[in-house]
Amino acid sequence: MTDINCTMCGLCETRTNVVVGKGPRSSSLMIIGEAPGADEDMLAEPFIGRCGDLLTKMLDDSGVSRDNTYITNVVKCRPVQGKKNRAPSTEEIETCKRWLWEEMKVVNPRVILTLGKTPTGLLLKLKKTFKLADYINKAHQVEYLESLVVPCYHPSYLMQTGRDKMGVALECIKLAKTHGI
Ligand code: URA
Ligand code: SF4
Repeated sequence: MTDINCTMCGLCETRTNVVVGKGPRSSSLMIIGEAPGADEDMLAEPFIGRCGDLLTKMLDDSGVSRDNTYITNVVKCRPVQGKKNRAPSTEEIETCKRWLWEEMKVVNPRVILTLGKTPTGLLLKLKKTFKLADYINKAHQVEYLESLVVPCYHPSYLMQTGRDKMGVALECIKLAKTHGI
């Protein structure tokens, strides 16, 4: 569903690996993050570093098995500035999204959990200035998708903010669960 030799945007020049989505194609829950980090770039798997460990724990704590979910990112190659991760640019997102659309079509999950602003803004087609807090922990039906979209806080945000919002994040996963995953 993603060309592992893709060179459609500039991120191909600094990546080690294209990080394709992982999980059963029959999953009723799809989880979308922002972009691979250093660990993901090295090992070609989404959410396997510290963020990934926290995500696995959050799923466990909400009674959701990570093995039954399809996990991917908005962009499939790691964006870097110097040696640090950065957010993907609008142009990178616009170029890479064709792979995500393909994944959504093939997996056709009942619910999509979007982690943080990047996937939430993209799927709900929001202006850049939107506030995640206005959309979080609600199930959104969008006209072009059969799946419901449930926005959730990104694990890296939860780590940066001392996990203050962890309770809400777990509520989001549980809300996704009540919608049939
Ligand atoms: N953060 C993301 O958004 N995606 C990953 O794959 C890892 C960390
Ligand atoms: Fe291709 Fe996406 Fe990687 Fe850019 S980020 S090179 S569009 S796979």
